[in-house]
Amino acid sequence: MSLRARIAAVAGLAVAAAVLTAAVSLYFATRSELRGEIDRSLQRRATDLLRMPPSGGPRPPVGAPPPGGVPGGFPGRVQPVPLGGSSGYVQFCSPDGQIHIPAGQGPRATIALDPTDRSIAQRGSGRTFSDRTVSGTSLRVLTVGAGSRGAIIVARPLTEANRELTRLLVILAIVGAGGIALAAALGALVARAALAPIARFVRRTESLAGELDLSRRLDSEGRDELARLARSFNATLDALERSVQTQRNLIADASHELRTPIASLRANIQLLEHAERLSDDDQQGLRQDIISELDELTGLIADIVELARGTAARGEYQPLQLEQVVAEAVARVQRHRVVRFQTRLEPTVISGDEQRVSRAVSNLLENACKWSPRGGLIEVDLSDGMLTVRDHGPGFEPQDLPHVFERFYRAAGARKLPGSGLGLAIVQQTAISHGGRVSASNAPGGGAQVTISFGQGTPDQTRTRS
Ligand SMILES: Nc1ncnc2c1ncn2[C@@H]1O[C@H](COP(=O)(O)OP(=O)(O)OP(=O)(O)O)[C@@H](O)[C@H]1O
Ligand SMILES: [Mg+2]
Repeated sequence: MSLRARIAAVAGLAVAAAVLTAAVSLYFATRSELRGEIDRSLQRRATDLLRMPPSGGPRPPVGAPPPGGVPGGFPGRVQPVPLGGSSGYVQFCSPDGQIHIPAGQGPRATIALDPTDRSIAQRGSGRTFSDRTVSGTSLRVLTVGAGSRGAIIVARPLTEANRELTRLLVILAIVGAGGIALAAALGALVARAALAPIARFVRRTESLAGELDLSRRLDSEGRDELARLARSFNATLDALERSVQTQRNLIADASHELRTPIASLRANIQLLEHAERLSDDDQQGLRQDIISELDELTGLIADIVELARGTAARGEYQPLQLEQVVAEAVARVQRHRVVRFQTRLEPTVISGDEQRVSRAVSNLLENACKWSPRGGLIEVDLSDGMLTVRDHGPGFEPQDLPHVFERFYRAAGARKLPGSGLGLAIVQQTAISHGGRVSASNAPGGGAQVTISFGQGTPDQTRTRS
C-alpha cells in the first residue's frame, strides 16, 4: 500500500469514526429524549388519576346523583384531556389482580398483568416502567401503586416515537455515508498535496543517483523537514565525495609510487637474462637485490591496502592489553636493530583490533630506529592511555611537521632511506578508527617525539606497573 493511499485511508477512517460517534450519540440522545417525554406524560397522567375521585370526572356538585364507578373505588370514566394532549390508555388493577377498564377511551384492549404489576397492586405502592406489545402495538407502560385500591396502569404507544427514530436513523445513515465518502475524497486530496513535495524530492534524488555526479547537491533552502532532509542528504554526498576523492588520490599516488620499484625490478630481471655474462658474486648480489625489491613491493602493497580501508571502525573490537602489544612490538624491532629501548609501560586496556594497533606501534618504533644514531636511546612511555615514542635522532624539520601524516610524504632527507612515506599515514588512520588521535613534535632535548592514543584507554588496576 502506497504512503499516499495510507494517509488517505487514515484520514477517511478518522472522519468516519468521528461521524459514526456523532451519529450514534445523536440517535441515543434523541431516543432518550423521546422516551423521557413519554415517561413524563405517563407519570403526569398517573398522578392526575390518583387524585381523581371515583366518579372519574370533576367533583359532582352537592345534591347531584352519585357517579358510577368501577369496583375497587376507581373512577368508572376517565377525565378527558386538553385538546391535542396525549392521554394514553388507562386500566386499573385491584389488589386481588382484577383488571378494570374505565369508559371513555375508545377501543378497549387489556394489558395483561405481569408479576411486577400484581405485586404493586397487592402492596398498593411502588412503580415501574416497562415496554410491552399489545395486539401488535408497542407500548410504554407505567404501573403505579394506588394504596388500598390496588394499582393504576397507564400506557402510551411507542409507534410515533419509533417512527421518528427510524426516520432519524435513515437520515443519519445517509448523512454519515456521505460524510465518510467526502472524508475519503478529502483524505486523498490532502495526501496528494502533502506528498507532492516528497515526490519532487524523490525525483531530484533519483536524478542525482542516476547521473553519478558526486559534485551535484540538492537545493536545501528553507527550514522545513524536507530542507533538513536535503541538508543531511547533501552531507552524506559530501562524505561520499570526500571518500571517493580520497580513494582516487590513493590509487593515483599508489600507481605512481609503484612505478619506480616495478621499473627497478624489471631492470634487474632483464639483467638476470644475461646472467652468463656476470660473475658469480654479481649474480648473487642481483638475486638479493631482486628479493629485497620484492619485499619492498610487498610491504608497499600491504600499506596501500591498509590505507584503502579508510578510517571507519571495522568488525568487532576486542579488549586489548596495550602495554603487552607495545612490549611485543619493541621485542620484535629490537631483534634486527642496533638501538637501546627504555620502556615505561603502564597497564592499559583499550578496545581495538590487535593486528592494526600492533602495526601502528611498529611503524612508530621503526621510524624511531631509522632516525636514531647507531646504539641510540629510544624511550617508549605508556601512561594515561597515551603512548609516546621518543628518539634521539635529528628530529622533524619544522617545514615537514605539518605534512608527516600525509600519504607518501617523505622529507627531503628521508629519500635516501628505505620507505615509502605511508608509515605515519597508517598510524594516523589507525588512531582515528579507534577513536584516538596522534601528534608529532620535536622533544625539548632534541629528537622526534610522536604521541598516539587509541580511544578511551583505561588504566588496568588489576595489573601492576612493569
Ligand atoms: N623519528 C623520526 N625522526 C625524524 N623524522 C621522521 C621520524 N619519523 C618520521 N619522520 C619523517 O616523516 C616522514 C614520514 O614518515 P613515514 O613513517 O610516514 O614514512 P617513512 O618512514 O619515510 O616510510 P615508511 O614508513 O612508509 O617506510 C619521514 O619520511 C620522515 O621525513
Ligand atoms: Mg615510517
